[in-house]
Amino acid sequence: MPRSRKRRAVTARPILDRYTARYPKSRELFERASKAVPRGVSHDGWFLSPFPIYIKRAEGSRKWDVDGFEYVDYIGGHGALLLGHAHPSLIEAAEAQVRQGTHFGASHELQVQWAEQVKGLVPSAEKVEFTNSGTEANILAMRVARAFTGRRKIVKFRGHFGGFADHLMVGVNPPWEVPGSAGILPCDIENTLVIPANDEKALEETLAGKDVALLMVEAAGAFSGVTGIDPTFYRTMRDLTEIYGTLLHFDEVVTGFRYAPGGVQGARSVVPDMTSLGKILTGGMPGAGALVGRDEIMDLMQFKGDDDHWNHFKRVAHTGTFNGNPLCAACGIATLKTIRDGSPQERANDIAEKLRQRMQEAIDDLGIPGCAYGEFSVFHLYFGECEMRGSCDRRICLNEDKERSLAMGRLLAMNMALHGVHTSSRGCDGFISAVHDMGDVHETADAFKLSLVALIKEGIFGTS
Ligand SMILES: Cc1ncc(COP(=O)(O)O)c(C=O)c1O
Repeated sequence: MPRSRKRRAVTARPILDRYTARYPKSRELFERASKAVPRGVSHDGWFLSPFPIYIKRAEGSRKWDVDGFEYVDYIGGHGALLLGHAHPSLIEAAEAQVRQGTHFGASHELQVQWAEQVKGLVPSAEKVEFTNSGTEANILAMRVARAFTGRRKIVKFRGHFGGFADHLMVGVNPPWEVPGSAGILPCDIENTLVIPANDEKALEETLAGKDVALLMVEAAGAFSGVTGIDPTFYRTMRDLTEIYGTLLHFDEVVTGFRYAPGGVQGARSVVPDMTSLGKILTGGMPGAGALVGRDEIMDLMQFKGDDDHWNHFKRVAHTGTFNGNPLCAACGIATLKTIRDGSPQERANDIAEKLRQRMQEAIDDLGIPGCAYGEFSVFHLYFGECEMRGSCDRRICLNEDKERSLAMGRLLAMNMALHGVHTSSRGCDGFISAVHDMGDVHETADAFKLSLVALIKEGIFGTS
């Protein structure tokens, strides 16, 4: 919606009533959870009022909830499940490795094989440092960049998300300049500069200040492409960071291995100095994270014999109980083997393209101002007028000035669930896997159209 337009209150009682009546077991679990877990869920993104759906099991592109309903899934483990749920190669690798041991408290060959595989796929990976999450990889990236350059500041683009580290939780949602959470001190973010993406002048002016250690970029743009990056801007970022001695970092936690075996950097042919990986790195097992980069940068983590000065004052320290553990390594190796020729990505991209088309047809048929867009194996939805309407290809959205109504997204997510489709609580984004098929596309498109009709009936789009 344009910012100037007054928002109508989104209540839609009949939708809430149907949702509440349909899922008694989920409601009960949420009531129990609320007494044991803050906010009743373990991830802010899972929160849905009055309660979220509780899932019991998942396989392929499908999930089943505790009340016995089946869903086509588009959350896909927050993007981790390119091969769908419970892929046979992952089950086999995990079962075998659990029997061999899940933590040796020591090095092992699988870790070496896994790192070698990552090196073989990701263009910027000369060395691979495993972490336990994407957030941890990004924290390490900032530390390494500051040690390497001797500089202080990090630059990030408005709307880009990099996990929940204090230094990065600024500029994710408007207002851009304030901490994104209570408990983050202004001094924690004073060295994080937030500027608009795709703006060469703003970037050059900021880097020219010369105290910038790192430009940290969500590789496909804000929230995996909700607002994208102009393909020509990758070269601009590479050139300007080189000129001003700033390290270029791609956060490929979501896009790594998904957009292409080599991630966005493989698809766009621009090699950053460092990259954070996560999610698909372990095929969906918890503990997915790695920072990869150029030898001379990553080698800051080397121990140097009895060079005490280096070891105490120059070396970058990094620990983590589960870094590169054998279970994650075994699962990661199995997954990367399956996806390295790019064919699963092509299948997922193809299905995603068809799904976006069908969603757009539904939007157009119903006469709602809006857009189904995205690249590779994601979809995004935007409802409202857009000044770029008609002049964009509905792949990369460069319109930063679009506000997505959370209340509307929540009602869409509930309606989609009522029609057998599980999307995130924000309702307007989804990940497609290599095992989604045309049956899923047809079911989803029908569910989407019925959901929009229900929202229209409730006057959500200002029509009835
Ligand atoms: C782009 C991006 N970076 C970093 C993260 C943080 O990764 P993790 O949740 O593994 O800490 C996420 C999580 O969704 C992400 O989307």
